[in-house]
Amino acid sequence: MTAPAELSVASIDEHRDDEAQARFDDLIAKDSRIEPRDWMPDAYRKTLIRQISQHAHSEIIGMQPESNWISRAPSLKRKAILMAKVQDEAGHGLYLYSAAQTLGIGREEMMQQLIEGRARYSSIFNYTTPTWADMGAIGWLVDGAAICNQVPLCRASYGPYGRAMVRICKEESFHQRQGFEILLELMQGTDEQKRMAQDAVDRWYWPSLMMFGPPDDESPNSAQSMAWNIKRFSNDELRQRFVGMLVPQAEVLGVTLPDPNLTWNEERQAYDMSEIDWDEFHEVLAGRGPANAERLRRRREAHEDGAWVREAAAEYARKQAAKAATAA
Ligand SMILES: [Fe+2]
Ligand SMILES: [Fe+2]
Repeated sequence: MTAPAELSVASIDEHRDDEAQARFDDLIAKDSRIEPRDWMPDAYRKTLIRQISQHAHSEIIGMQPESNWISRAPSLKRKAILMAKVQDEAGHGLYLYSAAQTLGIGREEMMQQLIEGRARYSSIFNYTTPTWADMGAIGWLVDGAAICNQVPLCRASYGPYGRAMVRICKEESFHQRQGFEILLELMQGTDEQKRMAQDAVDRWYWPSLMMFGPPDDESPNSAQSMAWNIKRFSNDELRQRFVGMLVPQAEVLGVTLPDPNLTWNEERQAYDMSEIDWDEFHEVLAGRGPANAERLRRRREAHEDGAWVREAAAEYARKQAAKAATAA
């Protein structure tokens, strides 16, 4: 009869799990950090893997709309700045893939999910960049929204994620300023340049508000993420904060934010605004945005073109290991 022994092993395991869960809950309650070696509930691990890998994919795909303009930037200085910015985004992707790897998922697996179209990334990067002013609007609005989203993530309960975000946020503020400065220069230029800047703001404003995700009452996972100290503010709170930041900056720039209903509500101490077109958001999310297919095609090509680099690096590592073994 082995049943009783099995039962007791199971109950010891259960007891250990309870203890581990209690330790985890205690760390969260104290607003401490969870580190890779710590026990964590499966759902917490899965949520983080999904969020961090989606975030990494967004950084990598996010290089495309801007790399499109590197060869056409209007001056050597602008070219150098834009190149540095796009390289920063590559770096952000790499810190984040590394952070996700500490949770037990491989880089190769994440990359496969992305190029096979099974992973999500921020839908903002599926919009096109037809004019130079788009570089300004992306920096000001898209990187600006990213900062609002990401500053609270510096305090995310998972250590490697929070620490990666600290460095990323420093670079994002440079991105936001360079975008603002591109728009400022255009707004002080010719009528045509002013129109170009306003047109870019008109096209990027609403998609940048969508970056905060669906309204709070349609965001079912938010409460759990907040209970785990991953997320600190709700989607709508962050969206409000972002709009509050934009209004005075738009005045300095001299651009109009394309929402006739945008007004300060003294009673609510918040901005009233028009309804966001969530149908557009869901369409782009479902892969039917202006550039979804193009973004994935380019990523796949880049992955294939880079195969020789991965093979060469693996071969070099193999040779070094063999040399070390022979020496030993
Ligand atoms: Fe970034
Ligand atoms: Fe950025």
